[in-house]
Amino acid sequence: MFEGFARVWTPLVASSALKKAPLGFTLAGEKIVLFRDLSGAPAALLDRCPHRGVALSLGQVLPNGCLECPFHGWQFDARGVNQHIPFNPQARRATLGATPLPTREIGDLIWIYTAPGLDAPGAPSPPDGLTDPSLARTLIERTWNCHWTRAMENMLDSPHLPFVHRKTIGKFTRRYMTLDSTMTVTWDETDFGGLTRSLVDGRDGGGRLEFHKPNIMALHIPIPHRHLRIHAIVIPVDTQHTRLMVVGSRDFLKSDWFRSLFAANSARIADEDRAVVESSWPSEVPPIEQEHSVGTDRATLAFRKYYFDTLKPSAV
Ligand code: FES
Ligand SMILES: [Fe+2]
Repeated sequence: MFEGFARVWTPLVASSALKKAPLGFTLAGEKIVLFRDLSGAPAALLDRCPHRGVALSLGQVLPNGCLECPFHGWQFDARGVNQHIPFNPQARRATLGATPLPTREIGDLIWIYTAPGLDAPGAPSPPDGLTDPSLARTLIERTWNCHWTRAMENMLDSPHLPFVHRKTIGKFTRRYMTLDSTMTVTWDETDFGGLTRSLVDGRDGGGRLEFHKPNIMALHIPIPHRHLRIHAIVIPVDTQHTRLMVVGSRDFLKSDWFRSLFAANSARIADEDRAVVESSWPSEVPPIEQEHSVGTDRATLAFRKYYFDTLKPSAV
């Protein structure tokens, strides 16, 4: 299950999107249904009724907090336990449950652990830009036609900025770079993943980029005494599709008017990347030795090493 993305915590959806109706998702090839129980806590089950394989996300949440299958009305609680089978009072419900997945709600996001069960080792540890209640946040979503590994590497890649983003976040570098310029990319491993900086001709713009395993990039944009960050959450759907949640966080200009401005800016930058990333072939990043790399690929190579060492060790 969850091939290449198993046993990790990932955000799946914004808290505000999960209301009374169940929501179905595909995550790394597995169908999942999310719903809220009586207390309002999120729950996740495999989106497959144990009776005849129907999508539970087509059902409804009942006043007792159970998710009712749309086909024959079996009821499952937040732990997947079968609480009712219509017309079959003697059925052994204890053995007829749905499969639960560990779920948490942290920082306006609903997180899933990609292994069946109710408990996961540890909890999600999101970057503080996603959780600090004093910050204003914007969120935009996109679906790209690519494997998530290409999108994740794109988010960790600095040398593409003056090309793909020549009119936006890359225009400053573009102004002073020359044919002889040198970019130095640093990569420092951290407990959460890694930290990368890029200097052009020794010039440090002060920006830094964090990789939070397995699939979050946090870009710190340097403004003195201010918090301004863009987070890219890269969610595998299947081998050809990736959902991006781009979350901006800031501690200034917090009004709604500015919210749309910041959101539009994030959307513009993400949309600039799309065609380039979708064109990458093979769609999934190949092992390191199968593509040609240079010094400025340090951060993306660090991700690729993590991917093949930890998430998909069987592939090499
Ligand atoms: S398929 Fe779900 S109750 Fe029959
Ligand atoms: Fe980009």
